[in-house]
Parts: sequence; C-alpha cells; structure tokens
Amino acid sequence: MTADILNNARDESGRDAVISKFKKRFNRNPDFISIAPGRVNLIGGHVDYNGGLVLPVTVNRHTFVAGARGKDLGLLTVHSIRENESFVVDLDCPVSPALPIWTNYVRGVVHGFLKRGIELPGLEILIDSTIPSGSGLSSSASLEVAIAGILEAASGVILKGNEKPKLCQQAENEFAKVPCGIMDQFSVAFGKRDYMLLLDCRDESIEQILFDHEHLALAVINSHVRHELSESEYAIRRESCESISRTLGLESLRELTWSTLDQLRDKIDKLSFLRAEHVVRENERTLKFVSHMKNADWFQAGEVLYESHASLREKFQVSCVELDELVGVARQIGTTGGVLGARMTGAGFGGCVVMLVKREKASDAVFKVVEDYNKTGAASSRPRASGFVVDSAEGAQVIKCNTG
Ligand code: GLA
Repeated sequence: MTADILNNARDESGRDAVISKFKKRFNRNPDFISIAPGRVNLIGGHVDYNGGLVLPVTVNRHTFVAGARGKDLGLLTVHSIRENESFVVDLDCPVSPALPIWTNYVRGVVHGFLKRGIELPGLEILIDSTIPSGSGLSSSASLEVAIAGILEAASGVILKGNEKPKLCQQAENEFAKVPCGIMDQFSVAFGKRDYMLLLDCRDESIEQILFDHEHLALAVINSHVRHELSESEYAIRRESCESISRTLGLESLRELTWSTLDQLRDKIDKLSFLRAEHVVRENERTLKFVSHMKNADWFQAGEVLYESHASLREKFQVSCVELDELVGVARQIGTTGGVLGARMTGAGFGGCVVMLVKREKASDAVFKVVEDYNKTGAASSRPRASGFVVDSAEGAQVIKCNTG
C-alpha cells in the first residue's frame, strides 16, 4: 500500500522499459513509441451516452506501445507484455473480431484505419501498460488510442479533429462489443496535464479547466472487485436510456431539464423516471462541480461528488456494496482527514472510487480510507482495496525514436 502511494514516479521509466522490452522481443529498436494515459472521471457518471456533460482527468498510469516497420510487409505482429500473448493480423484479409478478447481493442482500431482507405505497412508492435485493467481507469480506451497513434505514425496519415477518438470508440463498440460512450477515448486523446476536461458529449466541444494542484489532489481507491453484472447491466442502462428518449420523442436525455422531465412524469414508468432523473441531475451536477472548482469552493465541490455517488447508487443503480462502503469510509474520514469528496468512477459494479483530497493530506487520506475499509472486511473473503494518489497527465503522444 505505502509502495503504491509512492509509486507515481513509476511511469516516467515506462518509456525506457517499453524500448528495452521491444528490443528483447524483436531484436531491434522501435521506430516509434506511442504513450496514452488512463483517465479518471471526476463527475458526469453514465451521461456520456446520453449526450451529457462529463469531467474526466487523464492520469499518470499509461499504455506504452512500441512499433517498428516489420520484415513481413502485409503483417502486423503484436505482443502484449501484460497478457503474455502474441497475435498476427494479415493486412491483406478483412479484419474481424477474434479471440482472445483483448486483441479486439487492437483489431478494431486496425479495421478502422483500413476502412478509411489508409494503407498500413507491416509492423512489429509491443504493448506494455501500468493501468490496472478492469478497474474503471480506461485501460481499453488507452490501448485503442495508443494503437491509433502508432498506426498514424507508421502510415503517415494523421486523423483530423475528433476522428481518432471516434474511430477508437467504434472499435470498442463493434469489435470488443462494449456499447461505451465517447468520454474515455476523448479524454485519453485530448486530456492535458494540470487540467480537467469538460466534454459536452452532445456537440463534442471541450473546455480545459485548470485543476488547482497546489491545494488539491486526486486519489483512486481500487476495490479490486468486478461483479459479473458489469457488462450486461451497462448495456441495459444504455438501452433503457435510449428507449426513454424514444418514448419521449427526444434525440437524447440531454434535451431534458428537470422541469420538462417533471411534466413528463406520467409518460414513463417509475424506474425509467429514476434513470432519466439521474441523467438530468448529473448534468446539472457536472456544471455545479465545475463552478465550485473555479471559485475554489472545494467543500461544496466535494459534496457534489457525494451527491453524484448517491444518485448512481439509488437512481441509476450501478454501484455495489464495496464501492458504497468505500465512499462511506471516505465520508467518515471527512475534511479533517483530508477527504473533500468521493464517488464511484467508470461503469460501476466494482472498480474504483475517485476522491478529491487536500494536497497536504493526500497520502494520509488514502492510507486511512484503505486501512479502515480493509479492517472492516478483514473477516470476509472480499478483496483488499488498494489506493494511490494520481497526478494529471498529458493526453496521448507519439515519439519518434532515434534508431541505431
Ligand atoms: C465506462 C464507459 C464510458 C462511460 C462510463 C460511465 O467507462 O466506457 O463511456 O459511459 O462507463 O460514465
């Protein structure tokens, strides 16, 4: 745990590590390194696929992809350190989803390039990552965007505007069969060190908002729990939001305000009303949170995070006992212990909680939340939580290597 809190420097050596792992595997230097961060979503839970307002921050856990033009012209040879597996894509044949599942995040992106008529050279690719997978920190979006970066560098075709994150989202939807929204891929592609990214998922506009690093920090507590329900329930939530929109004759739930929803109360069933209420109020909360942060009203900002968690738990019903308990423990430790606010982040049903903490007490606050939570669960078989303070990180980048 202590080591985990202190390991922020770990990612700085990731670039050198991926180069030496590439050399070891392929017996030569890579031509390019593509680096993409993970992200934590501060607020705006489950609203991206409703055209809503989200506030992710790119964090210093990364996917590192090294690539070099391969000896086989029509082949991509891909190796993942984490999976300890390799696979080959034949660029002369149609690319379709295949096993093992993780390969689809790569195949889907390759398919997206080929579909746009972009010619890809044969490549050798090695993937390494410091983002805990399945924890809600977007390891998959990070992998997709990092692969897209390598393919851009190798083909010489740079995707314009929002095309790269959208290609990556499509890869996830169609190849990994995860009906995610646009938040993760946009965040990974356009995030900036020291900033929160306010993304309007309806018109895809972005505002970068300064995060006050002098006084504040972000921490992630990983419950290490992943409930089976996670994927199926995500798809069910998305489908039910779309069905409510259809019933109400709307483009998306983003079009609703609280008063219009209140007037339409009789047109939808009770559960649908709760789902829509979450979305409408969560969009309001994102703006409220941003305004509190801009005014340095950190206590109020923290309260908004707790409100968001309560709504995700009760109205949208995507939390779980472990996440609720972590947020409860954080709240109990409170501002005197350095915790300003906490909520589940990502798709839910396990994964991580994000905490807004006071900078000078950040490590103590993480330590205490993890310690208290693990103490109460000591007698059960539930996984032990771990936590770390995260720094904001630059969005995806590609570096050309000096070969030799
Ligand atoms: C996952 C999805 C995102 C978003 C969040 C919930 O991370 O990939 O698109 O819907 O869940 O906010």
